[in-house]
Amino acid sequence: MTAAKRLRVAVLISGSGTNLQAIIDAAAAGDPEIDIVGVISDRPKAYGLERAANAGITAMPVDFKSFDKRADFDAALADKLAELAPDLVVLAGYMRILPAATVNDYRGRMLNIHPSLLPDFPGLDTYARALAAGKKSHGTTVHFVTPELDSGPAIIQYRVHIRDQETEPELRQRVQAGEYLIYPQAIGLIAAGRVTLDGDSVCLDGKPLEQPIIIEEQPC
Ligand code: GRF
Repeated sequence: MTAAKRLRVAVLISGSGTNLQAIIDAAAAGDPEIDIVGVISDRPKAYGLERAANAGITAMPVDFKSFDKRADFDAALADKLAELAPDLVVLAGYMRILPAATVNDYRGRMLNIHPSLLPDFPGLDTYARALAAGKKSHGTTVHFVTPELDSGPAIIQYRVHIRDQETEPELRQRVQAGEYLIYPQAIGLIAAGRVTLDGDSVCLDGKPLEQPIIIEEQPC
């Protein structure tokens, strides 16, 4: 019997790579069953590149600052990505907007994690904005990437209830703990062929999802 082909996953990062680490650890434990074929960073000093190297994964810096023209950087990044021939591209704290052409090349095969319950709070500073808005809950979303920032079809969300007097670092810590659960989970659903993108709809086991899968924080 031949083993099923494992999904080739490329990860794009810009920073510390704690989500990358969660994905590396989950894959090393066999769930999801994927091959992480490379980690690309637009910042050569990103700690996530060290995490990749420590795990024996090809670490590829594409230094944004070494390009005079944005279009040249975009082309170099797209070339590096293409070299990896990924089945799935995972944005894990990648802080630059990708050109629409690259996003469209990987339509249905590119994921992002965004720290809010989308469509609430696309963009930056989501924790501060959720607290300032007096929201009762906050969380994080894994979604397919489309050219509109933080707006692609959502697959799975992790939701926490905001506590009285909660500070931004406290909220961030609880939400990020959820990211480390749901990102490997979403990748696993894709690797198993259970989650797909059909037009603008996320399908689970062949049926369109009316809303993302919601995982609630468990009380400790
Ligand atoms: C994550 O919290 C994610 O929500 C956002 O960027 C952060 C990256 O953190 N997109 P890390 O590099 O994975 O630690």
